[in-house]
Amino acid sequence: FSSRLVLGIETSCDDTGAAVMDETGLILGESLHSQKGVHLKTGGIIPTVAQRLHRENIACVVQEALNKSGIAPRDLSAIATTVKPGLALSLGIGLEYSLNFIQRHKLPFIPIHHMEAHALTVRMIQSVPFPFLVLLISGGHCLLAVARGIDDFLLLGQALDEAPGDTLDKVARRLSLVTHPKCSMLSGGQAIELLAREGNRLKFHFKSPMGQHYDCNFSFAGIRTQVTQVISKKEEDEGIQQGTILSCVSDIAAAAQYTVASHIAKRTHRAILFCKAKGLLPQSNPSLVVSGGVACNQYIRKTLQIVTDATNYELHCPPAKLCTDNGVMIAWNGVEKLREGKGIVTHASRIRYEPK
Ligand code: KG4
Ligand code: ZN
Repeated sequence: FSSRLVLGIETSCDDTGAAVMDETGLILGESLHSQKGVHLKTGGIIPTVAQRLHRENIACVVQEALNKSGIAPRDLSAIATTVKPGLALSLGIGLEYSLNFIQRHKLPFIPIHHMEAHALTVRMIQSVPFPFLVLLISGGHCLLAVARGIDDFLLLGQALDEAPGDTLDKVARRLSLVTHPKCSMLSGGQAIELLAREGNRLKFHFKSPMGQHYDCNFSFAGIRTQVTQVISKKEEDEGIQQGTILSCVSDIAAAAQYTVASHIAKRTHRAILFCKAKGLLPQSNPSLVVSGGVACNQYIRKTLQIVTDATNYELHCPPAKLCTDNGVMIAWNGVEKLREGKGIVTHASRIRYEPK
């Protein structure tokens, strides 16, 4: 092979992912095992369960990606693995597997930061030059940063309490959406998006937080509390028990989604104004990149499009499949680092395991 090849491995949360990619960003083989079904049943991720499932599946997932690519381990140029941030027990499985792999096949290692990988995924598909503004919204994270280079990020703001995906998952759980006939096997965020399409958001009003906070941080816990209170009130009014689907479930979903979307849009707008005032981004055609699981949400994307249209920003989102956790984005981050010769560890003894 004339092109160098990278194997990427992701195990930071509840998805075991692997992909083999060449230096141009071409995916030669990929594989993903999602634990979502198990965690939906238990009503949330239990770290020891996630760890066990990663341990059971990682070898098969990596082997499948290699088989699909037709690449033998000895033909790889490096292996790139998420080392932080994430669930320590889950990260540990990917790292342990990777360390054994590189020792067996004498390969260099590229440690990957999960959020940096989310932020740069879009560059695999289209040319988005540095610097650009990036919004990462998922079940575990929420942040705004200026991406200035593959390993150079300026953090502008982050969630002070919980991430938006977490909020939507908790609201979905409180509404018992796993038992809703239309929502089986959907994540909380997906279920809310689906039901919201047939709901009237004006039936409920939830306050958007942090109007007086002149920074780019986020807060979602207050939205969740307001929604939960309305659900309890409606259950009382309808004389039904918790766990039964409310008749106004779609309206609540629509109002909750609207409030989350508008909070995200307002904080992003602040970040855009901040970047403008400080001259952090180019004046012509600055870009906003949005990724993370919540970026799959079409309503939230459209809300952000309103902000970028009004400020002459270009909005870039990877396709939904690449917004949620996967091995491809890790391999791509490895490729970008390999190309620049940055962050490559050639001695396994130098690898630090420090999940945040
Ligand atoms: O990035 P991801 O796969 O994992 C991490 O949290 O890092 O994101 C999963 C999160 C979950 O909270 C899920 O409910 C949310 O992304 N999500 C969505 C949608 N699809 C996934 N939230 C809103 N709308 C969606 N369509
Ligand atoms: Zn993620």
